[in-house]
Amino acid sequence: MKLVKHIANLGYGSRKEVTWMFREGRVTDPDGEVLYADDQVSHEAIRIDGEPLDPPSGLLLMLHKPVGYTCSTKDPGRIVYDLLPPRFRLRSPLLSTVGRLDRDTSGLLLLTDDGALLHRIVSPKSHLSKRYDATLAHDLRGNEAEVFASGTLMLESEDTPLKPATLEVRDARHASLVLTEGRYHQARRMFAAVGNHVDALHRSAIGGIDLGDLPPGEWRALGEADRARLFA
Ligand code: URA
Repeated sequence: MKLVKHIANLGYGSRKEVTWMFREGRVTDPDGEVLYADDQVSHEAIRIDGEPLDPPSGLLLMLHKPVGYTCSTKDPGRIVYDLLPPRFRLRSPLLSTVGRLDRDTSGLLLLTDDGALLHRIVSPKSHLSKRYDATLAHDLRGNEAEVFASGTLMLESEDTPLKPATLEVRDARHASLVLTEGRYHQARRMFAAVGNHVDALHRSAIGGIDLGDLPPGEWRALGEADRARLFA
């Protein structure tokens, strides 16, 4: 791909603006030698204003979504893209959230510009597990794990039962729910179906990737090893 197009696709500017960046000598190699738009150089060997380029397409990143942010590009309030470099919203192909978390849910959110990867992660066929840590308004009764594991629980206004899910109880008000599907507000509706209410919900893991100690609002790009762990 031509350098101007490649850099414009990463959100640095329109093709016209990127052409000017070359003219102004802002695009260089690692030694500061000015590059020209028709040079043949690899992504890694390009600097803009002395800085390495953002990761190329095929980007997968994890974000620690705080409560109060929506997974939308249109919401007038706070959106998860506000937590990423502004350029990331201008990339082509687009960087999309992999599924969604409610505004009131915190935790691990993946974003990618790789359509095939996104499809693979969200596809029910992948059976990728998602772990939600819930803080509950009422004490657990004791039979919830059995109900969730039964494969017969039906949520209101749905016509197929939920797949079996695992509940790991930590104490009367705290439990982790491991789901392999992603229905609308599923975790909250499951606890509502057993007479409880979720006060706080936090996604701590997707497949083999967990949030670790990534602070709220922070993100990091995931490499090959992370991707392998995702489906492990
Ligand atoms: N289940 C929910 O209820 N909310 C989420 O954000 C994710 C799963």
